[in-house]
Amino acid sequence: MTTGTMAAFRGASYEIAEAIAPSWERRRAQIEEVSRPVRDWLLRELQPREGDTVLELAAGVGETGFEAATLVGASGRLISTDFSPSMLEAARRRGAELQIENVDYRVMDAERIALEDGSVDGVLCRFGYMLMADPAAALAETRRVLRAGGRLALAVWGLPMHNPFFGIVGVSLVQHGHVAPPEPPPAPGIYAMASAERTRALLESAGFVDVRTEEVAVSFVVPDVDEYLSVIADTAGPIGLALRGLSDADRATIRLEAEDSLSRFATANGYELPGIALCAVGM
Ligand SMILES: C[S@@+](CC[C@H](N)C(=O)[O-])C[C@H]1O[C@@H](n2cnc3c(N)ncnc32)[C@H](O)[C@@H]1O
Repeated sequence: MTTGTMAAFRGASYEIAEAIAPSWERRRAQIEEVSRPVRDWLLRELQPREGDTVLELAAGVGETGFEAATLVGASGRLISTDFSPSMLEAARRRGAELQIENVDYRVMDAERIALEDGSVDGVLCRFGYMLMADPAAALAETRRVLRAGGRLALAVWGLPMHNPFFGIVGVSLVQHGHVAPPEPPPAPGIYAMASAERTRALLESAGFVDVRTEEVAVSFVVPDVDEYLSVIADTAGPIGLALRGLSDADRATIRLEAEDSLSRFATANGYELPGIALCAVGM
């Protein structure tokens, strides 16, 4: 990507995050239900200890970090960050609801982390780096602010063939010209870091050692096709916004195609779709 393309991408990505933050907040519990195995993996691998300072990047509504905040106790703290002020405000509301007090909330771009070198003990980032214009820069910044021996635990989405939940409607929207076909990696996007080799190489180039990756399975359960489309519209970034903007006729076409594609995932209570997150840890 050229510098100009990166800047344009960052601007668009920021606008998408701001637009989608209210529905992310509304869907928080459902997002957590799906993502819980990923959150559990990240916290297990991060191994936060009492008194640690943990930084969460691209925190969204903040749930992954809040668990770390509890683990580090009153003598530790969580720095919960996102470049979207609306996401951060949603995180702040959730933190207050959970009565978690050892949290600093900061609007922060993960590609330019406004912290001192070696100032944090651990970094968490769930479903963030792959959406960044320059994940290599963000990872170098992450390594810079981590103390020696401090860990990064991250998750990104795995390969498209393992993630039909997003793909089913994504393919239809592309085929009907409602969204541009996704650019292949290294262009940023939901699958930009799906390759374990690429993710490992990005971490190692940023100075991380002892890098390990693992695929973590998740499961998306929806009662019917309308709820499926509604979840996508509420949570899935550019695809979601495209879905929201469809005319009734276009929406009916996409709905019919989605219903057909979902049929192979039918259960007694609706649909259950598998998903794979690629998780990584390094020091
Ligand atoms: C898919 S959401 C994930 C949110 C949360 N981590 C979770 O797992 O629920 C991606 C988040 O990344 C944030 N984001 C994207 N690019 C960013 C950047 N360069 N710096 C900080 N946050 C960024 C968005 O604002 C959004 O909240």
